[in-house]
Amino acid sequence: MKPSHPVARRGSSLAANLGLSERVFATSADKAMVKAIDAGLDRVEAGLLEEVRFADTIADVSTRYLLQAGGKRVRPMLTLLTAQLGAGVTDDVVTAAEAIEITHLASLYHDDVMDDADRRRGVPSAQAVWGNSVAILTGDLLFARASQLMAGLGEGAIRMQARTFERLVLGQLHETVGPQPGDDPIEHYIQVLADKTGSLIAAAAQSGIIFSGADPGFEAPIIEFGEKIGVAFQLVDDVIDLSPQPAETGKVPGTDLRAGVVTLPMLRLAEHARSDAASAALLERIERDVVIATGPAAAADPIDTNTMASRIVPSKETIDAIVAELREHEATRATLAEAHRWAREAVAALAPLPEGSVKKALTRFAETVVERES
Ligand code: FPP
Ligand code: MG
Repeated sequence: MKPSHPVARRGSSLAANLGLSERVFATSADKAMVKAIDAGLDRVEAGLLEEVRFADTIADVSTRYLLQAGGKRVRPMLTLLTAQLGAGVTDDVVTAAEAIEITHLASLYHDDVMDDADRRRGVPSAQAVWGNSVAILTGDLLFARASQLMAGLGEGAIRMQARTFERLVLGQLHETVGPQPGDDPIEHYIQVLADKTGSLIAAAAQSGIIFSGADPGFEAPIIEFGEKIGVAFQLVDDVIDLSPQPAETGKVPGTDLRAGVVTLPMLRLAEHARSDAASAALLERIERDVVIATGPAAAADPIDTNTMASRIVPSKETIDAIVAELREHEATRATLAEAHRWAREAVAALAPLPEGSVKKALTRFAETVVERES
């Protein structure tokens, strides 16, 4: 475990997380906004620690485990930012930001069980520490707490929470079962991203408008921004998966690829493979040497007992070289270009918003999402 004190850790977190450098955000209105949001984030951080208290000893420890392990708090930040279009950081805005972040946290516990992930936020995943049942139940407890917070904000908030929860679950379900006959695999994949990530980011941004009493006309553009930037975020993740990562993440390039997780570079590569022999050969090598390289047969025995073939498990160097080849392939360049297109469309959706610090910050946020490398 890597205990840290979140409130002390935050500081000028907005500037760091949204890419709001002093140089770009220099007017007095900008500075006042950044200050208000950073103060709000400190309130949210303290509130989160309060909201995940449980009388039960195990629940008390397991619920705060991933909260204290880190996280960028992107969703609360968006709530506090869009709230600047209304009355600012009101008590209700802080409560909504907490509920959204706790919902996100809950989903991570479940996701790591489903993905059989070893690590999250630089620490062993919850199920690696306590097993699947405790991890799943911890996610449920957190979701219950998030729902209680939303209930305090009225029926509209509960409906928004329920709708978002449904989309998160459907996104995970559709990702799990994959495209059905007649579905376009890429359209299916993008819909999964919009549901499992875009929906909660959109709800975070929408909450800032609703609970600050901002002009309701801002809701639709802000929701569209959130959905689209969520898709852009996930597409960049697909590209980052193929890149060397900072040592502290414990991630090797091609983690998703090795686990056989569907990503847009792989879907685009499959498209290329239909008409291009080199792409078809790369796809075949990925499926033969990379995807199964971490499978149970490979771990137990270098001979693939499933196929009964005498197959030598490829070396780390071979796998790394194949991952690098996909990274340099047109399929990955196209994925990055697509991420940029979603980010541009997200920014275009902001057209009805007034010019000023909030629009500037959301635009910078969109750029930061597609520029990030880890
Ligand atoms: C991470 O995806 C997963 C999500 C963004 C959504 C997960 C949603 C659920 C488990 C359903 C909702 C459940 C509750 C309790 C609210 P990823 O695996 O692509 O990303 P990763 O690299 O962060 O694991
Ligand atoms: Mg996952």
